[in-house]
Amino acid sequence: MVAAQVMGRDGELEILTSLARDAASGRGRLVLIEGEPGIGKTSLLRALLEDAADLLPRVVTGAAEEFDQRLPFATAGSCLEPLAAGDQEVAEVLALIRGTGAEYPVIESVLALVEKWCAAGPTAVAVDDLHWADSASILLLHRLGRVAGQLPLLLVAVRRSGAGGPETETLARTWLGHGAVQVTLGPLPESVVHQLVADLAGGPPGPALRGLVSGAAGNPLYIQELVGGLAQGMRLRAAGQQVDVDSSSEHLGVSPTLSAAIGRRLEFLSKQTRELLRVAALLGSAFTVADVAAVLGRPVTELLGQVTEATGTGVLTALPGRLAFRHPLVRAVLADSLASSAREALHGQIAQALVTRAAPERVAEHLLAAGPAAAPLLGWLTDAAGDIVDRAPALAADLLSQLLTTMAPPQGELSGRLRAALAVALLRTGRAGAAEQAARSALATPPDARTEAALRWTDRPGGDGNRRCAGDRSAHARRAGPVPRPGRLLPDHLQRASGRQHVLARQRHGGAGQRRYRGTRLWHGRGGPVPAVGRLDR
Ligand SMILES: Nc1ncnc2c1ncn2[C@@H]1O[C@H](COP(=O)(O)OP(=O)(O)O)[C@@H](O)[C@H]1O
Ligand SMILES: [Mg+2]
Repeated sequence: MVAAQVMGRDGELEILTSLARDAASGRGRLVLIEGEPGIGKTSLLRALLEDAADLLPRVVTGAAEEFDQRLPFATAGSCLEPLAAGDQEVAEVLALIRGTGAEYPVIESVLALVEKWCAAGPTAVAVDDLHWADSASILLLHRLGRVAGQLPLLLVAVRRSGAGGPETETLARTWLGHGAVQVTLGPLPESVVHQLVADLAGGPPGPALRGLVSGAAGNPLYIQELVGGLAQGMRLRAAGQQVDVDSSSEHLGVSPTLSAAIGRRLEFLSKQTRELLRVAALLGSAFTVADVAAVLGRPVTELLGQVTEATGTGVLTALPGRLAFRHPLVRAVLADSLASSAREALHGQIAQALVTRAAPERVAEHLLAAGPAAAPLLGWLTDAAGDIVDRAPALAADLLSQLLTTMAPPQGELSGRLRAALAVALLRTGRAGAAEQAARSALATPPDARTEAALRWTDRPGGDGNRRCAGDRSAHARRAGPVPRPGRLLPDHLQRASGRQHVLARQRHGGAGQRRYRGTRLWHGRGGPVPAVGRLDR
């Protein structure tokens, strides 16, 4: 991507470049860049990585996505994906993420990769939009933050001030504890704003235009949208050497917010283009025309005019093989412009279109956003639930809880299987109490043989007390050993073993009568290791 022109940020760039110099000399540094939306965080990061290219020849960078917060390692994956084609080891780590997504092996492999890169030369690793990062990637960033100081590594995270959950806060605090430098971006100074407006409007701004722009409070994105909107609406005119607003635009006043400025900019697009953009906005910050076409049920060829209009006016940017919103806020404003029931219906329609086109967890993200409009895919979800629980347990837990509490409950076997999947998802995300409840209600409805088997638990003595991250399924598989004795149902078992380690193992039937265990170890409180191995038949 072309580096954005960065004006008025010399001081910040100087600080950041000196940190890059430290990192290049082997004293790794941590950096947090913060500021409000549109203030220029991403642009500053790009400028830094470009300016420091000689110091840090290897750059690994990606961004968290709003819709991917519940997908384990989605953010880490965004950093690795661009490198996969030329690097077998990166491709293997990505395969690990897409396969089981088990935290421990993925984190260890990524740490090994970073150490290898750093051994070959100074390296920059940068994560944009940290406030949307998934928990597993945040854990990885904790670990990287601990080792960065001893490596020729510049580790940068960019986040929106005040956004992000408690995990992001904890990461920021920990990094600051490791000596991270925080760079907070404020408004651009007035002289820089006038220069920016002059560049955008094609001449120095006259008094009325300067007055309008002062409402943008030094936010470059806001300024761009404001001036772009005026230009698109033919509201700018030459006034001697200056460019000023047309008197007929006085009634416009100044948009009170950035989103209003963006909204007005979008008014100038044709109705069909806005329709396409609304669908695209719900697909995510980057998407393919083919996906939009599938959701709209129209051939791609019919959409080319709208795509051209959207890229021509700078709302969308063309990336290799995809289109992207020029700025996440433009996407957010479009998505918010829909009434919530329409948005839910559209998410439901997207989910249906993606069933045959995308991984099940992608469909699940849209089903979660679809609310009641998820109903038509309940049958599909019952079959796919196991895979979604495997790959994105937090997403599965939220989706299944939402479906089972807010919708007319599906009856019989369907309900039992969904509740059993929910129990597993809750257990996998460390919510043993809620898992127990889900298991109980799965058994309360007439438990078909399949569901009952899924919830039947067994005791198994042993275990070595070696603490690892929850989700370390391969380690568990080695430890779990032979088929456990049949035993109690989950609820009793959980009650009895509270405060201790629980292990849930899913039993899979392999070829030739082989049995294989996969499961998740969950840790509770103080207890020493008294593993309870659960058995889940499918
Ligand atoms: N210092 C700057 N000078 C000129 N334009 C800028 C500057 N910083 C950002 N921009 C422009 O403002 C818009 C928003 O910047 P961006 O870096 O995406 O903001 P953020 O990441 O903080 O949301 C972009 O279109 C970018 O080109
Ligand atoms: Mg940004």
